[in-house]
Amino acid sequence: MSKQIGILTAGGDSPGLNAAIRAIGKAALRSGMQVIGFRDGFRGLMENRTVRLDRHTLSGILTVGGTILGTSRDKPHRMPVGNRVMDMTDVMVDNYHRHYLDVLVCLGGGGTQKNALRLARKGLNIITLPKTIDNDVFGTDVTFGFDTALSIATDAIDRLHSTAHSHHRIIVVEVMGHRTGWLALGAGIAGGADVILIPEIPYQEEIVAEAILHRSRSGSRFSIVAVAEGAWTQEQADAYQSLVAQRAAAESSEEKARLKAKIKRLEAHMKGSALRLARQLEEKTGLESRLTILGHLQRGGIPSAADRLLSTRLGTACVEFIAQERYGIMVAARGDGSEAVPLEEVAGKVKQVPPDHPWIHSARAVSTCLGD
Ligand code: F6P
Repeated sequence: MSKQIGILTAGGDSPGLNAAIRAIGKAALRSGMQVIGFRDGFRGLMENRTVRLDRHTLSGILTVGGTILGTSRDKPHRMPVGNRVMDMTDVMVDNYHRHYLDVLVCLGGGGTQKNALRLARKGLNIITLPKTIDNDVFGTDVTFGFDTALSIATDAIDRLHSTAHSHHRIIVVEVMGHRTGWLALGAGIAGGADVILIPEIPYQEEIVAEAILHRSRSGSRFSIVAVAEGAWTQEQADAYQSLVAQRAAAESSEEKARLKAKIKRLEAHMKGSALRLARQLEEKTGLESRLTILGHLQRGGIPSAADRLLSTRLGTACVEFIAQERYGIMVAARGDGSEAVPLEEVAGKVKQVPPDHPWIHSARAVSTCLGD
């Protein structure tokens, strides 16, 4: 019997999503399967808003940025409905059955893996694909969207060089990545940033300032500082980890709630760290400094050739797994191929940059300051 496939895209959009939808759709249609898409991530599954993905809908989308299905950050178990936040998981399960689906394919990052696992635990057949410009999904070599964002951020750093050089300025450039520094590190190395700050390596402002002054004394009166959104000082990291440990050890729920609020305040304070860093560096070095936030520019526009290839590879592998009825898995990129990784092993984990990663060694070897 021909299979019925549902697809949704969830979380922040990412170049390569449409290429993946196209690959799944085309390979599925070719195998005699039927495909529908749910609009706007898990919200569309809850509200039963669908679109049939046929040859016509799938045509011409390979090179298009964003997602033709739309996306949202809504979670099945904490869905804003009117002025309430409700667990709508059972409604989603009903809608899955209403369409007689054999499988639901969820394209998303770390949060999506967790939400997909929640649905799998309700008995639905689920397959996920790893997408995010952050490249931080556990269990896959790489995520689609990362390569495109890496090129955009590198191009931006290249352009900032000439203006930093002309004005003898420090330019702090904030690159996306709240939890991990793959993008900042990759673009920082490729763009020749003088300082790269990532969440995995807490930094000290004094060390960064000294690296910039050292460059200045050696005749380079400008510096580029690539900083990941989630980069933090050693002091902030220590304070955060101590609060997390205190919360874990707290006995009363009041104490846990008080510490949770403190953690939230610290997290809020850490947003905007790049601006504070730019001001601090200006003060400590006497060099004029400017901040550039690349923001959503990094997620927009046409996917790179490498991302189109990756999305197509994972999308077609996904349909092979569907034909084999292998569910409860993420289709991971492994070397030149693809591999099924159980969702249970992926969900809730983050792939951070390891301290001994070759990129870290290379950055240090070319005298890039990592702030530690
Ligand atoms: O999830 C990818 C990501 O681009 C992160 O790098 C960034 O911190 C976040 O999304 C921004 O999310 P939003 O688009 O919801 O502001």
